[in-house]
Amino acid sequence: MKHQLVLLLVSFIPFILADLPSISHVRVPKDPFEPVQIRQAYAGSTGMHLSWNTFSKLPARPTVNYGLTITSLPFVSSPQNAESVTYPTSLTYNNHVRITHLTPNTKYFWKPAFSNATSIFSFTTAREAGDHTLFTVAVVVDLGLIGPQGLSTTVGAGASNPLKPGEINTIQSLQQHESWDFLWHPGDIAYADYWLKEELQGFLPNTSIANGFHVYESLLNQFYDEMTPLTSRKPWMVGPGNHEANCDDGGIRGYDVRICVPGQTNFTGFRNHFRMPSYQSGGLENFWYSFNHGMVHFVQIDTETDLGHGILGPDQPGGSEGNPGEDSGPFGLVDQQINWLINDLKNVDRKKTPWVVVAGHRPWYVSGAICAECQKAFESIFNQYSVDLVLTGHFHVYERIAPIFNGTIDPNELNNPKFPWYITNGAAGHYDGLNSLPTKLAPFSRAAYDKHYGWSRLVFHNCSHLTHEFVKSADGSVLDRATLFKDRKC
Ligand SMILES: *[C@@H]1O[C@H](CO)[C@@H](O)[C@H](O)[C@H]1NC(C)=O
Ligand SMILES: *[C@@H]1O[C@H](CO)[C@@H](O)[C@H](O)[C@H]1NC(C)=O
Ligand SMILES: *[C@@H]1O[C@H](CO)[C@@H](O)[C@H](O)[C@H]1NC(C)=O
Ligand SMILES: *[C@@H]1O[C@H](CO)[C@@H](O)[C@H](O)[C@H]1NC(C)=O
Ligand SMILES: *[C@@H]1O[C@H](CO)[C@@H](O)[C@H](O)[C@H]1NC(C)=O
Repeated sequence: MKHQLVLLLVSFIPFILADLPSISHVRVPKDPFEPVQIRQAYAGSTGMHLSWNTFSKLPARPTVNYGLTITSLPFVSSPQNAESVTYPTSLTYNNHVRITHLTPNTKYFWKPAFSNATSIFSFTTAREAGDHTLFTVAVVVDLGLIGPQGLSTTVGAGASNPLKPGEINTIQSLQQHESWDFLWHPGDIAYADYWLKEELQGFLPNTSIANGFHVYESLLNQFYDEMTPLTSRKPWMVGPGNHEANCDDGGIRGYDVRICVPGQTNFTGFRNHFRMPSYQSGGLENFWYSFNHGMVHFVQIDTETDLGHGILGPDQPGGSEGNPGEDSGPFGLVDQQINWLINDLKNVDRKKTPWVVVAGHRPWYVSGAICAECQKAFESIFNQYSVDLVLTGHFHVYERIAPIFNGTIDPNELNNPKFPWYITNGAAGHYDGLNSLPTKLAPFSRAAYDKHYGWSRLVFHNCSHLTHEFVKSADGSVLDRATLFKDRKC
């Protein structure tokens, strides 16, 4: 029998940031406008979303200085649509500027205004659609805070796979092998919702449930700080995962402890923190959108909410997992995501972008728990519009699947299949470690690992060859490599 101890922090004492005890590991700069948590996202091949946080509200509309060399930033951008957004429990302001009229595939340097900080950040704009030169993309799913308050050499009760002393983690590995153009992260970003689990498991000695909202925000800030060496130089394209909205059960067996702090409910932190190119693609916020980069059309879908045709996300109230802790959405109108997806895929110019790659958080081909609702919502559409590759995570293992549709494996396997190819890689690493694969893998499984942290490297060679590699973070070795061939004339 399951004991229910549902605590909802629906009200919290208004507070002043300066009065809060500081939780270790977050650097709070002296300069209130010093930019932290730098991140960037494509906005077409001639634009860029530039975002950063500050611990105080900027004195005027967010503004950036930028230019083509690190020594000269002659251009200023402070567009009407620049935003500085926050929510009551956040410790910071999320500042967003979208700059436009840039040159494709060109490196720029920039820095936010209003601070005396001297750091200068950089990005390279997207390759124009139709540019068929080789490039590489890094993909992580389920990447959480690494370090003393996240995945480390010690783990909480029930967690597995601590890092070995000195082990190179996924964030470090991505830095060491930084040949990729952008980082794609379809969900489970930071795992700050684990504050409660970590708290109850005695992993955060100096915190209390009463200041949970503060711990949540602190873990988020730590994670974004950790990502900044990567995301201040490369675009970081994100999508929604359950841990962007989860009111986790606290991980105590037999109990169901739900404490929803405001930043955690309904994707609040996620919606404030990121700006994805949804308006360019007719998508919706950071939930669903698409973008072109060179010879590839990339599509991000939302597997958590808005599945269309009245299908509930697995963790929505009434959903199959019976965990209304993810009481979120809908964000669009009825069927909006599905109608958008069909329209988006229908209009891909396969001459310019022969490859179509989709990422969503939850898998439906994996040797473990599947998202049957997601399959119902998306699979036929992917097949109908000849999606080449579908990337997911959620299950914390690596598994490469055969090209498949509706349970039927494509007899051609990777040699010019007509069905989409599926890969699940949820092994990036977070507080809880890795999951275990069953001893008997599903018949569609082609390669699987459950003992190593790692990330995915996609190499688009040309219009006919695409290689996927599972890179082991600890030593950079490639544990699994497979090339998809599509019989196309470039
Ligand atoms: C930046 O430096 C100037 C000159 O030293 C100083 O007046 C100003 O307060 C500083 N700004 C911030 C945000 O620290
Ligand atoms: C917890 O607080 C004690 C006493 O202030 C301090 O010595 C200790 O370093 C803190 N531990 C952590 C992990 O912050
Ligand atoms: C979540 O936010 C969206 C957008 O503001 C809103 O339409 C929806 O009702 C909210 N859902 C819940 C469960 O609060
Ligand atoms: C999938 O296969 C089942 C039988 O296994 C069939 O009933 C169903 O119509 C198929 N769905 C599609 C979209 O082809
Ligand atoms: C495409 O790339 C693959 C892998 O490098 C190579 O074997 C193949 O010859 C290339 N095809 C064309 C048409 O260049």
